[in-house]
Amino acid sequence: MPAVIRPNIFYVGARDWDRRLFDELIPLPDGTTYNAYLIKGSTHTALLDTVDPPKTKELFANLDELGVEQIDYLIAHHAEQDHAGAIPDVLARYPAAKVVTNAKCRDLLQEHLLIAPERFIVVEDGAQLALGDRTLQFVFTPWVHWPETMCTYLVEDQILFSCDFFGAHLATSALFANDEARVYQSAKRYYAEIMMPFRANVVKNIAKVSAMPIQMIAPSHGPIYRQPEFIINAYCEWTNDQVKNLVLIPYVSMHGSTERMVQYVVKKLIERQIAVQPYNLTSTDIGELAMDLVDAATVVLGTPTVILGPHPQAVTATFLLNLLRPKVRWLSVIGSYGWGGKALEVIKGLVGNLKVELLEPVYIKGYPKEADFRELDRLVEQIATKHATI
Ligand code: FEO
Repeated sequence: MPAVIRPNIFYVGARDWDRRLFDELIPLPDGTTYNAYLIKGSTHTALLDTVDPPKTKELFANLDELGVEQIDYLIAHHAEQDHAGAIPDVLARYPAAKVVTNAKCRDLLQEHLLIAPERFIVVEDGAQLALGDRTLQFVFTPWVHWPETMCTYLVEDQILFSCDFFGAHLATSALFANDEARVYQSAKRYYAEIMMPFRANVVKNIAKVSAMPIQMIAPSHGPIYRQPEFIINAYCEWTNDQVKNLVLIPYVSMHGSTERMVQYVVKKLIERQIAVQPYNLTSTDIGELAMDLVDAATVVLGTPTVILGPHPQAVTATFLLNLLRPKVRWLSVIGSYGWGGKALEVIKGLVGNLKVELLEPVYIKGYPKEADFRELDRLVEQIATKHATI
């Protein structure tokens, strides 16, 4: 159902309460929303983004409820399907509508959605588009999280329509981010999974949009921020170079040897007053792990050897770690093998993106023995020394 944000500014998107997986990869414990916005100016009407294709009927029902008979401009901030997928249906329903976007996004939309070239108006960074009594200004924000991503600034109302930037996978009946504690968690999860690999670009784009007077941030996922400083401050916290006194231990254990080592390291780190979070990879929500990676100083991967290499669950976790490029500073591996293998070499070969210092692994044969525990003590001592420098 549509909702009024301000006079003649409407929410017309869709909530996806039951969706539990995005990109067939990312868990969505709280569903998500595909936010689309309608701005009725005194002379022209603009639709900002669309919805994921299965929700197109909801978008159209919202537009019908508002009596929208003509759309002049369809602003496309981003070519990914969850916002752009319904553009062809919108263009078919509103034949006068033009897609307003940047050149990179136009190219992607043509590739992905086969939209005819004559339906586009291409704009530059900073360009303005008048709707009569209201003015849209386009703000390019590349790499949050695709190369073509941009925002729209509604000049008179000082509202930033930020697309994925500042978003949260959170389906809630609340239009606005009133429950900041809940939204913080969803937005942090979203940042960790989507934005963290592009942290340097995110920092640049935070600076760019923060220079504008903003009364409201309206993203494409999750609730609208009436206190924009809440989400901007959170982003500044997540993207800064500081790490926390936190060790993450993603692990998998087949017969208990690696798990025993993990338990020992957890106990010893707690004794040293170092925060630690083990994640059993056979049951972990990888979104939880990603959120902790935003802050953690150290990762200790726990893996047994399967045939000649690391356990496939550990390989997946390491691959994701390398993709997400967290600001983690120290990395180590603990685990156990039966008769041989090259687990450590494989793990080391998977982390080329990370700017980490490798702490000497503890990789043992069979169940841990007295000498192995002393090696784990050595690793814990090394971590404590490193964390003292944070
Ligand atoms: Fe919500 Fe990058 O799409």
